Amino acid sequence: MSFVAINVLTVPEPMRDVLEERFANRAGEVERMDGFEYFELLRPVTGQDSYLVYTRWQSEDAFRAWVNSPAFNQGHAQASADGPAASGSQIWTFQVVQHKAGAGSDA
Ligand code: HEM
Repeated sequence: MSFVAINVLTVPEPMRDVLEERFANRAGEVERMDGFEYFELLRPVTGQDSYLVYTRWQSEDAFRAWVNSPAFNQGHAQASADGPAASGSQIWTFQVVQHKAGAGSDA
């Protein structure tokens, strides 16, 4: 059963471009990890101030291994060096109960 970890980032309007720029230049380490399945950066459309960083893994252990790896620190180097673009963050985790990909999806 896959495991989903979502980082909910509160991003004030003036910092949105900074956040998206950082993700545009992200390290790309996460997709090299064992058990990695999927990543998406989700920009809010209907007025919320939270971006979602969606990750999906083969197992919770695979997610935990990434969080405790040097790849995680490398993947957050810009945020560490230049200060946070987000004013808050919260981690939501889920077990995938059902999944179906459409013909137009690469998932
Ligand atoms: C205090 C918590 C966190 C904050 C403020 C934060 C913010 C950021 C920022 C600004 C980046 C852009 C790249 C960079 O800064 O170098 C990034 C990368 C990323 N974050 Fe986080 N993050 C946090 C924790 C997490 C957690 C727990 C997850 C798991 C759901 C996550 C998922 C990701 C992923 C997948 C990337 C891309 C890494 C890569 O390309 O290798 N983040 N994060």
